[in-house]
Amino acid sequence: MPTQSSAFPNLRVFDHPLIQHKLAVARDRHTLPADFRRLLNEIAGLMTYEVSRRFETRGVKVETPLEVADGRQLARPVTLVPVLRAGLSMTDGVMQLFPEARVGHIGIRRDEATRRPVFYYARLPSDVRDGYSIVVDPMLATGGSACAAISYLKEAGCRDVQMVCLVAVPEGVKRVLDEHPDVMIHAAALDRGLDADAFIRPGLGDAGDRVFGTIG
Ligand code: PRP
Repeated sequence: MPTQSSAFPNLRVFDHPLIQHKLAVARDRHTLPADFRRLLNEIAGLMTYEVSRRFETRGVKVETPLEVADGRQLARPVTLVPVLRAGLSMTDGVMQLFPEARVGHIGIRRDEATRRPVFYYARLPSDVRDGYSIVVDPMLATGGSACAAISYLKEAGCRDVQMVCLVAVPEGVKRVLDEHPDVMIHAAALDRGLDADAFIRPGLGDAGDRVFGTIG
């Protein structure tokens, strides 16, 4: 079970030993892109189990080889929404648990001069509003990118949005929950804070660059 932060009732931080172990390896500067990608997917998959805990189910009749049994299935569709680029690094891990999920993409990059989010792409399923949306992005720094992605989903009619990230900082969590108090944030770690360049400390570097090998 994740722990609930007393400062942020809508933040859940995962203290599971497997998640913490994998996160520590991912943070290591010597971890290569192939391993970094694998670890991010594995952590996202482990977090998904808990993220989906409150999903509504409906009763179904299932014909087993011997008789009809009562079962339960998810009542509403699930849409995974990676924030490009780095969010792609968590998509496969979540999809292994939700193979039926649809994937909507939102392209946002943070302008490193202004630190403001720059929106450049979106493609969502036409009925995205009918189900659950899970925004995935390894990093929640100032919160600008997350707020922009969540606002876009809400404008598309989504009412049930959750955010899954690996490392978050109090500044970003506060901003997202101030602007979107109905959203639940799930994080593998709540880091110390932002530095003067608005980088997460201690953080894990630039996740997008580490995933795609575009450092330098
Ligand atoms: C990173 C990260 C988030 C954003 C977080 O993406 O993946 O999307 O920055 O910063 P914020 O909370 O201050 O908005 P980046 O802009 O580096 O783009 P990339 O994924 O394409 O590398």
